[in-house]
Amino acid sequence: MSTLRLEDLKQYSDVMRTRHGERLDLRFVEPRDTDELQHYFRSLSTHSRYNRFFGAVSELPKGLLRDFLEVGERDRFTIVATMMVDGFETIVAEARYAFHTETATLEFGLSVDDRWHGHGIATALMKNLECRAAALGAEHMFGDTLRSNEAMVSLARKSGFAFVNHPDDWKLVRFDKEISVGPKEIPCASWRLAALSRQADNPSASA
Ligand SMILES: CC(C)(COP(=O)(O)OP(=O)(O)OC[C@H]1O[C@@H](n2cnc3c(N)ncnc32)[C@H](O)[C@@H]1OP(=O)(O)O)[C@@H](O)C(=O)NCCC(=O)NCCS
Repeated sequence: MSTLRLEDLKQYSDVMRTRHGERLDLRFVEPRDTDELQHYFRSLSTHSRYNRFFGAVSELPKGLLRDFLEVGERDRFTIVATMMVDGFETIVAEARYAFHTETATLEFGLSVDDRWHGHGIATALMKNLECRAAALGAEHMFGDTLRSNEAMVSLARKSGFAFVNHPDDWKLVRFDKEISVGPKEIPCASWRLAALSRQADNPSASA
């Protein structure tokens, strides 16, 4: 992680597109997002919040909000996808991921604003997470979802993930994907550069 210069987070921003070509800016969450992030979660449908947090919550509890706003602490990161709506930068999706060095895995969870479901945003976000996983040197990326979450199960299947039982909870299923791109092939510019610089710092890191 030493080559992630967290003091200059903006260099790790990416531009994504919805299925219809609308622009989405993807960046690490910042302290100025506190209210907007909480507003985003409150605005999700009850169903979406349940699926995201595996339980009934009306907003992010204080401790979790604090965790969400910490970027890089214990190799955990929150990213937000924003769009310009009526002249305001508005959060339309989020993802939180953790890089587990000991297992070389990237674990993630994500959500998309209900008004933007079906626009290919989660598909784009997961592709971007794959770039981030490759840049960090992860060999696998995985997430957990409720078995009843048909949208997430279908999305994971379409995105090339395989399913395994969750080790602790029968209500959950784990989706897992091997990361097999080398730094030079990473299809997100900022993350390709981060991976190449990681490789230059540590030539023995896997290609
Ligand atoms: C699951 C979720 C992230 C999908 O986001 P999205 O941006 O709408 O997904 P996409 O538009 O990229 O859809 C991609 C594929 O997912 C599947 N999918 C998405 N919504 C679906 C639905 N309501 N029912 C069945 N499949 C669905 C489809 O296979 C779809 O492909 P298609 O459009 O070609 O049919 C979104 O529904 C969500 O935020 N849910 C609440 C939070 C959550 O469940 N998080 C996952 C657990 S961490």
